[in-house]
Order: sequence, then C-alpha cells, then structure tokens
Amino acid sequence: MKLSSSHMDNIPSTPGKFKMEKSPYVHRFRHYSSLAKLTFWSSVFLALIILFFFKSPSTSPPNSTPPDLSRRSLKTTFWGGPAWEKRVRSSARIRSQNGLSVLVTGAAGFVGTHVSAALKRRGDGVLGLDNFNNYYDPSLKRARQALLERSGIYIVEGDINDAALLNKLFEVVPFTHVMHLAAQAGVRYAMENPSSYVHSNIAGLVNVLEVCKNANPQPAIVWASSSSVYGLNTKVPFSEKDRTDQPASLYAATKKAGEEIAHTYNHIYGLSLTGLRFFTVYGPWGRPDMAYFFFTRDILKGKSIPVFEGSNHGTVARDFTYIDDIVKGCLGALDTAEKSTGSGGKKKGPAQLRVFNLGNTSPVPVTDLVSILEKLLKVKAKRKMMKLPRNGDVQFTHANISFAQREFGYKPTTDLQSGLKKFVRWYVSYYDSGKKNSH
Ligand SMILES: NC(=O)c1ccc[n+]([C@@H]2O[C@H](COP(=O)([O-])OP(=O)(O)OC[C@H]3O[C@@H](n4cnc5c(N)ncnc54)[C@H](O)[C@@H]3O)[C@@H](O)[C@H]2O)c1
Ligand SMILES: *[C@@H]1O[C@H](CO)[C@@H](O)[C@H](O)[C@H]1NC(C)=O
Repeated sequence: MKLSSSHMDNIPSTPGKFKMEKSPYVHRFRHYSSLAKLTFWSSVFLALIILFFFKSPSTSPPNSTPPDLSRRSLKTTFWGGPAWEKRVRSSARIRSQNGLSVLVTGAAGFVGTHVSAALKRRGDGVLGLDNFNNYYDPSLKRARQALLERSGIYIVEGDINDAALLNKLFEVVPFTHVMHLAAQAGVRYAMENPSSYVHSNIAGLVNVLEVCKNANPQPAIVWASSSSVYGLNTKVPFSEKDRTDQPASLYAATKKAGEEIAHTYNHIYGLSLTGLRFFTVYGPWGRPDMAYFFFTRDILKGKSIPVFEGSNHGTVARDFTYIDDIVKGCLGALDTAEKSTGSGGKKKGPAQLRVFNLGNTSPVPVTDLVSILEKLLKVKAKRKMMKLPRNGDVQFTHANISFAQREFGYKPTTDLQSGLKKFVRWYVSYYDSGKKNSH
C-alpha cells in the first residue's frame, strides 16, 4: 500500500517527530510545571490538526482563498497492492476483437462519464482517473462513479499531476489510448482561482504527456481543448485554421497553451495527439456550473436568472452540442488516431497531430434556450437582462465541423429542443427521486 500525497510533507506525520527533550523550547520552559508543558503541547497538537484540515484544498469550498500552488496536495488516497492492481486490470480488460484499452482522465466528470460508458458498451477496456475535486458538487461526481461502477468501470482516485500513480497505471496496463478530459473548466472561476487552471490544464497536461512519452508502447492521446480558444475571433463559422491567439479568459489561454504543448510533444517524442474543441456541451449528468443547468434549477425555484445580452442589445448565442454527439466525436477521434511513433522517450518518425471542432453548427440565442426550458418545465422564468461582462465569455460561437465530418463522419443529430428534453427528464428524476440537494 502506498500513500500518494504531498501535503503530508508539510505536517509532521508522527508525534515521534517531536523530540521534546531535544527541543530548545523545552529548555526554556524547564522551570514550568509539567501540567503547563502538557497544556502547551496539547495546544500545539490541536493547532496542527486544525492546520491539517484547513490546508487540504479538497475540503475547502471553491470560493475560499485558493491554496498556495506549491502546497497544493495531490489528493491523499491509498493505491497499490495486488487487490488494487487486479481491480485496475479487470476494468481495463478488452472484451471485443480489436478493442482499445483506454485510460480516461476526468472520468467522474460530465463528458468523461459518458465517454467511458460508451467505450465499455462496445467492448473496450476502460480505466478512469479523477481527483473528485469540489469545483462543483462532488456528490454528483460520486453518483456518476456509481453509475460507471455498475458497468464494471473502476475510477482510480488521484491527481493527473501524480507521476508515480500514472507510471504505476501504465506499468499495470499497456494502454493503447488515453482520453484526457480532466481539467479545470469554467470561464468565470478563473478570476477567483487562477492557479487551479495552471495546476490541472498546464502542469497536469504536461505530466500526462510526460508519462505517455515514457510509456512503452506509447499510447495515442485524444484530449479536450475548447471552442473558447477562438476567443475574440469574429469570423464565423469558426474553422480549425482560424486564428486562436486572442483568448478572452485564462481558461481559454490554458487550453490554447495545451494545444501548443501538444505540438511540442508530438514534434519531439512522436506522440500521436488529437485535440478536440468542444462547443458548449449539455445533457443528462451535466455540469451544474453551466447556464442550462442552473437556469433549470433556478427557474424551478422561482429565482430570477441572469440572461446576458451583447453590446448594442446584440444576441448572445451558443453552438449548444448534445452529449451523445460529443461522445460519437470522441469515439471517432479515438478510432482514427494513429499509433504514436516513439518508444522509451525517443521519437522514431513523424506522428499524427490533429485538432477538430466538435460542435452542432447551429448557434441558438440564450433567450431561446430560456424559452425552451420554460416550455419543458412549465414554469415562467424571471429573466434579469444583463450586459455580457467582458471577463471571459464571448458573445457568439459557431462551429465549422466539416473537418471532423470528413475524417471520421462526425454528424451531430440532436437539436437543442430534443436534447434539453432529455436533460430536463434526467434533472427532475435525479433531484426529485433521491431528494438530493441541488443547492
Ligand atoms: N462541457 C463543456 O461544455 C466543455 C466545453 C469545452 C471544453 N470542455 C473540456 O472538456 C473536458 C471535460 O469537461 P466536463 O464538462 O466533463 O467537465 P467536468 O468538470 O465535469 O469534468 C472534469 C473532471 O476532471 C476532474 N479533474 C479536474 N482536475 C483534475 C486533476 N488535476 N486530476 C484529476 N482529475 C481532475 C474533475 O474532478 C472532473 O470530474 C474538460 O477538459 C473541459 O475543459 C468542456
Ligand atoms: C469549413 O472549413 C473547411 C475546412 O475544414 C473549409 O474548406 C470551408 O470553407 C469552411 N466552411 C465555411 C462556411 O467557412
């Protein structure tokens, strides 16, 4: 058994580390009674215990002071040992001919859960990895985990920055593919907690690529970029060749950085890399920080919802893409990914490097989104019209998907009305039946 942690290093792990006799403090307090000594050391221990709980970022709410990056913990969880390895192997076992064996990072996330389930259904081996952070309600991540567990998918609890853990996973399973979806998502939250974006989207990505490059054989990697890389680009629809050098948020900047980092690892080490620029994904088991989700919650609660309009009353619109269409795109990208060419950290020849838009190609004004929800929920929304702040969100997104269509037949088939119907059905049954708190 191995304890994978780093924040433990900041705290004495055993009381034995305090050699009272040798401490300079003890000598100064020599003339004190032993009762005073006892009181003193008890309070030191109490303080350390309190410190331990408050230092752990996983127990602090997302809107509290972000933890110092250098002290950020890599989620303390036990891993290793024969029983654990058996569980890992069994989850990743391929059950169909020519099946893949895929490590899915961010498997307890919205997209990760759906992709993992789809891979498993068709007989691929799937192992999940997720740190279950509390950026949004972790109980939703636990519920997704339980769902995957029922189809035999194990999610290892750990951070993508934990190199020892990742190396171990590759030692146990020779993954053919990595579906890298773990990331700090959200545009607004980047102003509150910028270091979480650096930690997961930059440092974490580099760690995943480092481990993949050293693996033998190297896996092919498909990972989630974002439509947000188009930033202030005004040419529509957005094509992969358009400029992406004007990000409007730190989130977008870290995804753009990821695309450049991917280029480097492809160039130097021969890793096969495919980036997918998702356009506003929605559906059952979705993310509570996204508008369609909290609009639904707040409309049902009779709370007013902020509806943004662009400058000069311009429409704010999104190319909403239904989760099943995104899943098909992810599987298409995995299935057409060529093998990495390197081995043991050395490049043997040029490898595949791709970027695809995965959108729906039909932008819908956010006001229409609200009208559809009103009809489905049979409740009138209290709209609070507001100016779109210039702090991250762009006014309009629209994907040109002809490249993905050509390469792997990507063709979205769900319009916003039918997709939201499925989302609302899930939402109502999830939060009603279990009497779960939607906050
Ligand atoms: N949903 C969208 O509309 C959308 C749009 C564009 C891009 N994306 C990208 O797609 C991917 C999946 O998005 P999602 O909507 O499923 O988000 P999500 O937040 O539901 O899923 C991400 C998962 O990654 C995990 N995670 C985060 N940091 C981690 C770390 N350091 N180590 C281990 N696990 C970590 C989280 O716990 C979470 O379960 C992300 O990379 C996101 O940036 C999503
Ligand atoms: C969409 O992108 C393709 C390249 O993948 C390009 O040939 C085509 O002209 C673009 N379509 C539009 C409408 O911009």
